[in-house]
Amino acid sequence: MTENPADSNPLMTGRNQSLFPQACTIVIFGGAGDLSRRKLIPALYNLALDGLLPTQFAVIGFAIDEMSDDAFRDFAREGIERFSRRELSEEDWLDFAEHLFYQQGEFSEASAYATLRMRLDEIEPRFGISGNRLYYLAIPPSLIDTCVFGLRDAGLVAPPDQDLPFTRLVVEKPIGRDLPSALAVNQSLQSCFAEHQLYRIDHYLGKETVQNILAMRFGNSIFEPLWNSKYIDHVQITVAEAEGVGTRAGYFETAGALRDMVQNHILQLLSLVAMEPPWSMRADVIRDRRLDLLQCLRPLRIDEVERHVVRAQYSSGFFHGKNAPGYRRENGVAADSTTETFVALRLFIDNWRWAGVPIYIRTGKAMPKRVSEVAVQFKAVPHMLFNTDTDHPLEPNVLALRIQPDEGLSLRIGSKLPGPKVKIYPVKMDFRYGSTFGDQSPEAYERLLLDVMAGDATLFMRDDAVEASWNWIQPILDAWEASGERWLPEYPAGSWGPIEADRLIDADGCAWRQL
Ligand code: BG6
Repeated sequence: MTENPADSNPLMTGRNQSLFPQACTIVIFGGAGDLSRRKLIPALYNLALDGLLPTQFAVIGFAIDEMSDDAFRDFAREGIERFSRRELSEEDWLDFAEHLFYQQGEFSEASAYATLRMRLDEIEPRFGISGNRLYYLAIPPSLIDTCVFGLRDAGLVAPPDQDLPFTRLVVEKPIGRDLPSALAVNQSLQSCFAEHQLYRIDHYLGKETVQNILAMRFGNSIFEPLWNSKYIDHVQITVAEAEGVGTRAGYFETAGALRDMVQNHILQLLSLVAMEPPWSMRADVIRDRRLDLLQCLRPLRIDEVERHVVRAQYSSGFFHGKNAPGYRRENGVAADSTTETFVALRLFIDNWRWAGVPIYIRTGKAMPKRVSEVAVQFKAVPHMLFNTDTDHPLEPNVLALRIQPDEGLSLRIGSKLPGPKVKIYPVKMDFRYGSTFGDQSPEAYERLLLDVMAGDATLFMRDDAVEASWNWIQPILDAWEASGERWLPEYPAGSWGPIEADRLIDADGCAWRQL
């Protein structure tokens, strides 16, 4: 029997047998844009290199720009050369390029969808594709309604109860900018598509290290018995970025760090760290458990927000040997902007497992380095034997899940320092993806695109989860709006955040981890 290359590929193991990528056409709305060039096309190329794409597939870039198929192939090639995980090889590129096409269209015009349909009807038979279609909206959120209504009105969406050929729609974040607008986006989506046809992407869920959280928690017997308020003192989640706002000020000014990172990526990360054990790996079961967790977040009253949430903006700083401008001096940022580039907060999960355990979250731009981790700090041992001197407590055990870079995990434990004296010294047990598995892990978009083609929605956000996380965020937005603040606390670019963030955690007798 010949071995299927997919069988030994880490992206395929553990996958339900019926969930293999199916022959389909991928239509990328905004196909000539940045997301397509940096992420989507390189991800598809890497999947093709791994033999994971079905042989019958086609990609149509669909956008307003005038472009021929050949020009789109050049654009795709350039994207792969610059951003692909693996280098472009001439032979593989030629095979891959044959599947790429481009269709110009104005999303608000019915004629664009009519032409798209003709293009699909012409391309699909060439590759033996029987009408399975995946529409990827790589477009600004303001165009979502136009595109989904355009698809529906043109009859390009399969009826919800039809298994094959399928229609699937992939939507990028942000889904709304507050609870009411998120509800409105979900309503528009659901007026054209059934929920099972919708795939709301949160690319953090596609990161290998994020998926490993479940494997680590439920594939080992030693962690789960300790994973509760009896043994855990607190949890810290840090998602720090070294870059400032760069060229994305236009978007970021309307978002800010709370909407951009906390509402989606960080709350999704938290839901995996803290959820109850799922009884199956089925998508709906895992998504139910994630939702339960989000629904247990203790709601903040507007008058409590200031005590639990710190926001700040980076000011100018000296960073990596260069002067870095403050946020208000960046191109495209208003000189009196009050958009936060940093958030630190404390939250509680009101369920049996986590009662009373504080969860600290911090995220920001222009911080000293790019590093994301979840650190679980365990309670101290009783004050006797090795730590009777309260001025010199033992370092607590910390399990640090390193999301990126330097992916892996480490456990800090106390060990006796060799020698005649009894002295305890903190040491680390360390696992690194790089040294253990060698090869680079697949990019999040590779995994997620494959999952959409296979119809596996586990790593995507369901409507109720999006709404539950906005529901928790909303009082913070309301409190900020009501405060009418004209200046935010500042932190110099290249530092770990404002003093107010330290005070938030110091007040509980804890400290941010030094990363
Ligand atoms: C995006 C945010 O969703 O995630 C960006 O909009 C942020 O502002 C990015 O920089 C971070 O993603 P990653 O994978 O680089 O950590």
